[in-house]
Amino acid sequence: MKDEKRLAVREFTHWSKGYDRSILQWLLFSPSHQALIKRIREVAGDRPTRLLDVGCGTGVFAALVRSTLPNVQVWGIDLVGGMLEKGRARWQEHRGRVLPVQGDSENLPFETGVFDLVTCANSFHHYPRQDRAVQEMARVLRPGGRLLLIDGYRDNIWGWFIYDVCVSTVEQCVHHASAGRFRALFSDAGLGSVVQHVHHGPAPFILNEGIAPAGVPRPHFGGLRVATSRPSIDEVGRGD
Ligand SMILES: C[S@@+](CC[C@H](N)C(=O)[O-])C[C@H]1O[C@@H](n2cnc3c(N)ncnc32)[C@H](O)[C@@H]1O
Repeated sequence: MKDEKRLAVREFTHWSKGYDRSILQWLLFSPSHQALIKRIREVAGDRPTRLLDVGCGTGVFAALVRSTLPNVQVWGIDLVGGMLEKGRARWQEHRGRVLPVQGDSENLPFETGVFDLVTCANSFHHYPRQDRAVQEMARVLRPGGRLLLIDGYRDNIWGWFIYDVCVSTVEQCVHHASAGRFRALFSDAGLGSVVQHVHHGPAPFILNEGIAPAGVPRPHFGGLRVATSRPSIDEVGRGD
């Protein structure tokens, strides 16, 4: 595993113990989760929906989805076993409708085209290969499926100070992408209709949204592992 990922594992294994009580839950995570819930409700309505939450942590967002949007089935993936372990009670409570998986955002252990929605909240700045992660999120979306990605907004002076100065000092090896960089990453991954919303506040964040093309071959995924080597999402979920 590369050094940056080792750092992330060390940081979140340590942080997992007090993670759910962090002031960031109130300052950043909860507002960003509410923004995602609002958007999911708008785009999915009451339809049965398969959602993958990348960098799911202790499952706070997954549990919120289940309690507010009962027709959404959630798969959560996180690199750090300690974070998933800390969310054990949540996974148990929503057993069968929320399925945690340990894995890397840059190499998702799912077949191509199986999710209606992919979400990623407050995790993306930890990924060393952000291009690869967005390509993977786009790959697992069905045609017409939607990626909703939230991370800290660093394109104004306050956001820059919070994320590029303070957060970068506390957490090493983090990279908060600019709005322009997000647009380029989404476009390179074949995602269209890209829309961005900035939420201002003490900890500003940006919600980036893009849609997987309908029925268009995506040749830039040719270099990734073939889909047939991956388990189906039903297989991945079984036994959790
Ligand atoms: C700040 S927490 C956010 C958790 C959750 N999404 C939320 O909003 O509360 C970031 C999460 O990203 C996970 N993470 C870091 N690097 C990752 C990677 N390469 N693949 C998957 N998850 C990763 C960490 O383990 C951690 O749980």
